[in-house]
Amino acid sequence: MSTFWSIWISAIVLGTIFGCWWLLVATRKGQTTDTETDRTTGHSFDGIEEYDNPMPKWWYYLFIATCVFSLGYLALYPGLGNFKGLLGWTQYNQWEQEVQVAEAKYSEIYAQYGDTPIVELAQDDDAMKMGQRLFANNCAVCHGSAGRGSIGFPNLTDDDWLYGGEPDTILHTITQGRQGAMPAKGMMPNMTAEQVDQVVNYVLSFSDRAQSEEAAEAGKQIFGQACAACHGQDAKGNQAMGAPNLTDNTWLYGSTYDRIKETVMYGRQNQMPAQGGRLSEDQIHILAAYVYSLSN
Ligand code: HEC
Ligand code: HEC
Repeated sequence: MSTFWSIWISAIVLGTIFGCWWLLVATRKGQTTDTETDRTTGHSFDGIEEYDNPMPKWWYYLFIATCVFSLGYLALYPGLGNFKGLLGWTQYNQWEQEVQVAEAKYSEIYAQYGDTPIVELAQDDDAMKMGQRLFANNCAVCHGSAGRGSIGFPNLTDDDWLYGGEPDTILHTITQGRQGAMPAKGMMPNMTAEQVDQVVNYVLSFSDRAQSEEAAEAGKQIFGQACAACHGQDAKGNQAMGAPNLTDNTWLYGSTYDRIKETVMYGRQNQMPAQGGRLSEDQIHILAAYVYSLSN
């Protein structure tokens, strides 16, 4: 805030408080007596008259006390323009303190599982309840609350893995993240429309769904040239590259002719964001065990 507005606000706030104070004292001075009397203000309406009594003392002092309180408050806490208050309190540092307290408390709880091997930890009901909550807060937006995934987001409850389901691999995936990249038309950027149709038919033939046997047969050779480097000669995938198995029933982007053709034509880019740094090592350890438990 600029100095001008800081002074502007301070002047209005302090002016209002002292104004109230002055009003209280000034109106009280005009009163002739300090105690209750039978004297009336003089006006009468329909026979109803109004006593001219002073405000009760306790009430008067209560008003003064609120003015004193507000001045004290403004001295200690932010409220006067740029003045930060003598205590240096901010919403932010209060939040930080609360987070620190919570982290100190919870990190102990997470840490007790840090040395338990993942396979063993996956059997521990208490730890898995904790894992479920961590999953709901950090992973469910993408993988779904039950971990079943959706188009583009892998299902974590099945036995099919892009990168591998070994405890250490899961731990690595969560900590470092993953970058899935399928280049358009694989290793054959000049693939013709006919060749695309042929290779898609070949992929479909793994699940006996080729639209044309002839095209599938021709696609086999194209596959060897353009796709096998990543997906393998047998099309069973390569977990080191995150290239999915194309012969099974699990599909990241859908199993229809059109979806597969789309993948081949335009390629796919996908990212699993790294959690190291966002979550503590102990939290990731529990999450890895939770993910492991989903399919084991
Ligand atoms: C922003 C979305 C997003 C969030 C959040 C996210 N993931 Fe992922 N995750 C993905 C995507 C996308 C992939 C697939 C990457 C690819 O295709 O290469 C993936 C892949 C994975 C894999 C590898 C699966 C396999 O088949 O090998 C695991 C394990 C995983 N995520 C676990 C987690 C956990 C645990 C969390 C929570 C800490 C999490 N993910 C949070 C998007 C996300
Ligand atoms: C450079 C390596 C590479 C090459 C070459 C490659 N792919 Fe892929 N492919 C991948 C990766 C990695 C993915 C997973 C992308 C992701 O995680 O989002 C993938 C995904 C796919 C999918 C989606 C599978 C699903 O479960 O939905 C299909 C279909 C596919 N590729 C077919 C092909 C075909 C056909 C070719 C040859 C024309 C080919 N790929 C060439 C790396 C490759």
